Amino acid sequence: MAVPPSVTAVVVLAAGQGTRMRSRTPKVLHAIGGRSMLGHVLAAAAPLGAARTVVVVGSGRDQVEAHLAGIAPDARSVVQEQQNGSGHAAAIALEATADLTGPVLIVNGDAPLLRTSTIQALVEAHRSAGDLLTVLTASVDDPTGLGRIVRDGAGRVTAIVEERDATPEQRTITEVNAGVYVGDGAAVRAALGRVGAANDQGEQYLTDVLGLLVGDGEQVGGHRADDADDTLGCNDRRELAARRRTLNDRVLDDLMRAGVTVVDPQTTWVDVTVEVGADTVLHPGTQLLGATVVAGGAVVGPDSTLTDTEVGEGARVVRTHAELAVVGPDVQVGPFAYLRPGTRLARGSKVGTFVETKNASLGEGSKIPHLSYVGDATIGEGTNIGAATVFVNYDGVAKHHTTIGDHARTGADNMFVAPVTVGDGAYTAAGSVITTDVPPGAMGVARATQRNVTGWVGRRRPGTAAAAAAEAAAGRGTDEQQGSPA
Ligand code: UD1
Ligand code: CA
Repeated sequence: MAVPPSVTAVVVLAAGQGTRMRSRTPKVLHAIGGRSMLGHVLAAAAPLGAARTVVVVGSGRDQVEAHLAGIAPDARSVVQEQQNGSGHAAAIALEATADLTGPVLIVNGDAPLLRTSTIQALVEAHRSAGDLLTVLTASVDDPTGLGRIVRDGAGRVTAIVEERDATPEQRTITEVNAGVYVGDGAAVRAALGRVGAANDQGEQYLTDVLGLLVGDGEQVGGHRADDADDTLGCNDRRELAARRRTLNDRVLDDLMRAGVTVVDPQTTWVDVTVEVGADTVLHPGTQLLGATVVAGGAVVGPDSTLTDTEVGEGARVVRTHAELAVVGPDVQVGPFAYLRPGTRLARGSKVGTFVETKNASLGEGSKIPHLSYVGDATIGEGTNIGAATVFVNYDGVAKHHTTIGDHARTGADNMFVAPVTVGDGAYTAAGSVITTDVPPGAMGVARATQRNVTGWVGRRRPGTAAAAAAEAAAGRGTDEQQGSPA
């Protein structure tokens, strides 16, 4: 059943400088939980099905527009050349929706915790009350810095007063403006034309529209959000950290309700874009970021950061840093593994301790247990790569590929100088530098032959503990320290 659109247009105010962030990045592009603040606002508004989304850009305009093109290509940006206030920004946006009739959602771009359900409740309150304009409000313990909602004796909203313009008495009001409004587009546009700048900041305030409409005898309303967290803006880095924490708590609550064990919610960070299956355990210090998907029954952490990574059922990923990697079912990774983009680990395989992989696929049941770099490689199934192996993929100019077959056993401390191929069932000797192909079933040996210089220590290091030990061994009639006489 198609849900009819609840607003005809969405306007996001995102032109402000965000001075309090003290950042070169425009405020609305600061990210929490896997999306920019602007991205969160747009995602919350998207299900409303508006015919048009307009984003007011100004400060850091190029950056904001480039970001928009990536996350919301259908949104229109309109430019506010000078940041003369939220009312000025809204007026510019509403010019771009003048051809549409019906309710318009106007929302600050720095409201990352706003949820669709909260907007929908505001829209519904607006509709059922028959208001010309309805503002989302919240009752908070500390209203510092926020616009206060002024109500008359009958509880009707009569104005919004910014803190810096408020009387001492108005400052005691704890119901505040969330910066989210639903109103008739034409009426709000007309009222914005009358908004002045006679306030402490000399800016045109969107909030003044309420008082103007009330003065006209129109009906405006305030709808209190069920969860005040939804209404929290974000103006500086401390608020950014606080919002990030709140958002993360919400994500983890949802995961736990869906059957995921989160051992330490304080140190586990999961982006809103991540999926985790039931009966997976997330240990302390785990970060799941971006498009990461973890299947059920897996174990991740402690101390693991997975970005855009897929983890299969029953896999264990311990003390691992991974990006754009695919970890198959029942795979074991870590501790101390680094999976770089293009890593693909098939079912039941293993990447062990101090192993780095990049653009490498490992077949079913194959293992790279210790101390290795595997770059640009295809490894078959059932193969074991010896400890301390380096896939020498880079000749200083270009990258080359190494192929290792099925059921191969490569020795410890090998160098595979790419391009090179080791066939199915082949072995290589420990310490080999493999520069030419090893045929299936062959043993590749590529190392200097050992020679022992008999009696060297006694002649060249006389009087040392080593010489004494060697002499004692000779006296016992053992020859293992000195080598067999030729
Ligand atoms: C605003 C509200 C305040 C409310 C609070 C909620 C006004 C005057 N005040 O205050 O009542 O309690 O949000 O968080 O609106 N912007 C532009 N162009 C401008 C100025 C601002 O696009 O010229 C945008 C900003 O990018 C931001 C939004 O408007 O997304 C609000 O501006 P901001 O400076 O954050 O207002 P607050 O002081 O937080
Ligand atoms: Ca703000």
